[in-house]
Amino acid sequence: GSLLFLTSEISPFMKTGGLGDYSQALPPALLRSMADGGDVRIFCPGFLGAETDPRLTPVGGPLTFETPWGEKTLRVFRAADQKESAGSCPSGPILDFLLVDDLFDRKGLYGEAGQDYPDNFIRYFSWSLAVFVWMGETGFLPDVVHGNDWQTGMFFPLLRLKSIEDSSLSSIRTVFTIHNLAFKGLFPFDLFFLTGFPASWGGFDGLEYYGDLSMIKGGIVFSDYVTTVSPTYRNEVLSEPLGAGLSGALKYRGERFLGVLNGIDDDVWNPLTDPMIEHPFSRTDLSGKEINRHSLIRKGNFSSADAPVIGCVTRMTSQKGIDLLLLALDQWLSGQAKPFSFFLLGTGDPVLEKKALELEAKYRGKVHVVIGFDEGLSHQIYAGSDFFMMPSRYEPCGLAQMYAMRYGTIPLVFPTGGLRDTVSDGVDGLWMSSLSEEGVIDVLDRALDLYQDKKTFFSYRSHSMDKQNGWEERTGEYLRIYAGVLPSAPEIRQ
Ligand code: ADP
Ligand code: GLC
Repeated sequence: GSLLFLTSEISPFMKTGGLGDYSQALPPALLRSMADGGDVRIFCPGFLGAETDPRLTPVGGPLTFETPWGEKTLRVFRAADQKESAGSCPSGPILDFLLVDDLFDRKGLYGEAGQDYPDNFIRYFSWSLAVFVWMGETGFLPDVVHGNDWQTGMFFPLLRLKSIEDSSLSSIRTVFTIHNLAFKGLFPFDLFFLTGFPASWGGFDGLEYYGDLSMIKGGIVFSDYVTTVSPTYRNEVLSEPLGAGLSGALKYRGERFLGVLNGIDDDVWNPLTDPMIEHPFSRTDLSGKEINRHSLIRKGNFSSADAPVIGCVTRMTSQKGIDLLLLALDQWLSGQAKPFSFFLLGTGDPVLEKKALELEAKYRGKVHVVIGFDEGLSHQIYAGSDFFMMPSRYEPCGLAQMYAMRYGTIPLVFPTGGLRDTVSDGVDGLWMSSLSEEGVIDVLDRALDLYQDKKTFFSYRSHSMDKQNGWEERTGEYLRIYAGVLPSAPEIRQ
């Protein structure tokens, strides 16, 4: 079969979170599991520096095309070494970056300094149009198009519109994956009148969302199948508040809305071969983990080498419960409670960043905070910590906890969404008892007790490292959805 995968992020080229890793890992895993060899292509927007990036070669353009905002020019750059760029498959998917005028060669992906770019609708609508231009130019007519999140949402109604004129397009089956329902891609509804869509597509059962135009609804309403990234999150978003106002639209999709648990790339995230960590280690020889732990302790200027190290790598947003975490840490550390060292790497909300730095200043030697996005340091934290903290308010899937587990670092989580599906309380991780400051304190307390009981602690660690979270076992579900085969009764988990 042939597949076109549309995504606004792909590691290691551009990433703000898990979508970048998902897009790097899933398409090559799908290609490996396609019986007939398959033809998998990935289209991404261009990015700052794409034109001079030594990993890319120009393969197309300039091609001009019409948009509601006048004529635009498309140029396409292809990742030369797919082994390096698109996962671990020797002949990986073809990865093309579609650069449209000056819409994508910018410092941020969606905005800068906490502010979205004001022209995001123009950027991603034009990019969706460019997808058709490049499909036409290369003569690539895929069996399936799989898009992700609001950035690709407009592709789906556009396909429906274009199929009316060009019947060859009507054979394409479509799948839309939601990675985070909180990002609805909302814009002033006036833009709808520029899209060329029939008026009947502008209602509440179309692209309208409480008076705005929602790009994510393009994917939810106009795709053949909608998926999200864990079974529990799927069930959670069928009601409010986690449905973020879209539970009705999702319910309407019935059994065509499915939860498929994310996997991780076991080759990129492998403590035995990871070039970004100081010393390799494995489940059978953990001496290297101790070396990584000590270098993390040095990096954090921690005053104690005996105290357990708790790591956290995160976008700093309310989704991730960072506000609760900072309050709980302050409360814990101000008392005479059991000691630990806390290493936080994150960036996002400037208010949370400032609060984190204040906490560090107050508890130097115990709390270390790095504000920024640092891939290398993130690997070192997964490798060197004893525990990994993830008190998310909601979590569509979460990859960070799976990386931590693969590196023998025990996750401490609030059991929501994919965290509930991937972490087993009392076996390979610990669950917070409530989503609150007390919940964080309580899980810290249990973790510190566990650390004292070395035998049990090591058993958690082994279970964590044994967990099979590779994509290999999970691609079959996508292939079945691509083929239009649905499970007879979707499993409801409590
Ligand atoms: P989300 O996509 O909601 O941010 P995930 O757990 O799915 O959550 O994925 C987060 C990914 O982004 C992980 O690969 C994590 O290591 C990475 N990440 C998050 N914040 C940072 C940061 N400040 N520096 C480096 N990597 C980060
Ligand atoms: C989103 C979600 C995260 C998920 C990731 C990849 O960023 O917040 O939970 O793991 O997408 O699907």
